Amino acid sequence: MHPLINIATMAARAAGGNIMHHYARIDQLNIEQKGKNDYVSEVDKEAENTIIKTIQKYYPEHAILAEESGIKKAKKTKYGLSEVEWIIDPLDGTTNFLHQFPQFCVSIAIKEKGKLTHAVIFDPVRDEMFTASRGRGAFLNNQRMRISQQKTLDNALLATGFPYHDFSYLDSYMASLKAFMTSTAGVRRAGSAALDLAYVACGRVDGYWEFNLKPWDIAAGALLVQEAGGLATDFRGGEDYLTSGNILVANPKLYKEMAQTLAKTIPTELRT
Ligand code: 2AM
Ligand code: CA
Repeated sequence: MHPLINIATMAARAAGGNIMHHYARIDQLNIEQKGKNDYVSEVDKEAENTIIKTIQKYYPEHAILAEESGIKKAKKTKYGLSEVEWIIDPLDGTTNFLHQFPQFCVSIAIKEKGKLTHAVIFDPVRDEMFTASRGRGAFLNNQRMRISQQKTLDNALLATGFPYHDFSYLDSYMASLKAFMTSTAGVRRAGSAALDLAYVACGRVDGYWEFNLKPWDIAAGALLVQEAGGLATDFRGGEDYLTSGNILVANPKLYKEMAQTLAKTIPTELRT
C-alpha cells in the first residue's frame, strides 16, 4: 500500500470513529446553519480536526483544503514548497447523519502537482473502505473493484443529487432527471455525493450526475471511478469538474449515452 494511502485510511477510520460515536446521540449535538439547507455539527469539525492532525503528524508541509476549515497553504522544506494537497470532506452527507439516515462517509483525496493521485472514501456504518491510487486500480476493503459492464441506459440504475440550496438551474436539472427517469431502470438520490461516486466505482449503480458540487464532495470519488475503469468529466466532456462542480461518471459505453442526454436537456451555457 502506498504510504499516503496508509495515512489517509488511518485518518478516515479515526474520523469514522468520531462520527459513529455521536451517531447514537444526535440529540445532544450542537448544530449550526451555514446557509440555506447547509448544516454543520460539532461532529463535522471534530472529524476534520482528527484528519488534519493525523496528516500534519506525518506531513506537516502538505497543503490542505477542508470543507470546514478552508485552505492551509503548503510549507517550505529544504526541498522547496510541497506540491502535495489533501482535499477533505470529513462528513459527506451531514443532513443524512443529522437524521440518522445511514448514508454518509469520510472523503479524502490527494493531489500531487495539481493531479489527483490518491483517494479514500470510508463508510463507517458498513465499514467499507474504498481506495484508489492513480495507475494502480481501485479497491473496496482491499478487493479489486470494477465499474459495471452495463451497456445500455434502459437497464441502468443511476444515482444523482437534487439541487438543495441554489435553485437557479432547477429547470435544467429537472429536464435531465425527467429524461433519465423515463429512459433507465431507475434513479436513486441517497444524499452523499462521495458515496454515490464510490457506488459507481464498485458497480452498485451504473452512472451518476450532479450539478454544483464542491471539490471535497467529488475529488476522491472521481479518482475511484477512473481507477475502476470509468470516465469522470464535467458536463462538456472536459476535466474541469473540480472547478465547475458539475460531474458525470459512468462506464465508457454508458457514459456516451448519458452525455448525449445531458447535451439534449441542459442549455450550453449551463453545461460547464
Ligand atoms: P455535505 O453533507 O458534505 O454538505 C449531495 O447532493 C451533496 O450535497 C452531498 O455530498 C452533501 O455534502 C451536499 N449537501 C449539503 N447540504 C445538503 C442538503 N441539505 N441536502 C442534500 N445534500 C446536501
Ligand atoms: Ca460534502
